[in-house]
Amino acid sequence: MKVDVLVADESHLGYAEKICDLIYISAQERGTGIAKRTPEYIREKIRDGKAVIAIAEDGTLAGYSYIETWGHTKFVANSGLIVAHEFRKTGLARRIKHMTFELSRKMFPYAKIFSITTGLAVMKINTEMGFRPVTFSELTDDKEFWAGCEGCKNIDILKRNDYKLCLCTGLLYDPAKQVTEKEKEENLNFISKIGKGIAMPFKAINKKLKSTR
Ligand SMILES: CC(C)(COP(=O)(O)OP(=O)(O)OC[C@H]1O[C@@H](n2cnc3c(N)ncnc32)[C@H](O)[C@@H]1OP(=O)(O)O)[C@@H](O)C(=O)NCCC(=O)NCCS
Repeated sequence: MKVDVLVADESHLGYAEKICDLIYISAQERGTGIAKRTPEYIREKIRDGKAVIAIAEDGTLAGYSYIETWGHTKFVANSGLIVAHEFRKTGLARRIKHMTFELSRKMFPYAKIFSITTGLAVMKINTEMGFRPVTFSELTDDKEFWAGCEGCKNIDILKRNDYKLCLCTGLLYDPAKQVTEKEKEENLNFISKIGKGIAMPFKAINKKLKSTR
């Protein structure tokens, strides 16, 4: 079935509840906690032009993602990516991620863009777009962003480590730094080790940082 990926507008406000349900169900399936996303919050993102939505030709909701700004727009987070089960493994997340990235660049051209994730799909897609795996110290120190981790079952790990490391990998796009194709390839090899569980994100990142110093 044909699926359109587009920047969400007022005509998509009616999908807010369905989007929340998808996010909630997926968090339960993955056994992770969940950052609070109410239908009103989703509607706010849509009204602000900060959301990307995927709609199948029969009107079914296929996917969603949104952007948030932190540290007085110094940072933009690409968050809340979700693809409905029946549309997975068809390249839809990649399309949504690309559009969310383009939207972020257009709205906040000077901002650093980041995601945190344990998911290999997101690590892969972001790395292809020029994101680098980084330690949390390179991400926003805006307390409100990290408060979003409160619902995660690994919050004790994050707190124990003074918000400096956890099981998620930080991925950062810095508009001031060009990432070459060779570096992208190296980063892809590197994150695939994390994705396969061969390396823990923080240990591997520290090792990589030391080796490139
Ligand atoms: C993760 C998710 C968004 C992927 O959506 P998708 O549309 O199936 O992904 P795509 O088809 O665009 O795949 C992109 C790449 O990721 C890979 N991929 C997809 N799902 C994967 C998975 N569960 N594990 C490992 N790799 C995966 C694909 O093989 C593809 O790589 P390739 O082109 O090298 O083959 C979807 O499974 C989902 O919504 N999961 C629940 C919510 C979630 O985890 N969100 C991310 C939070 S950070």
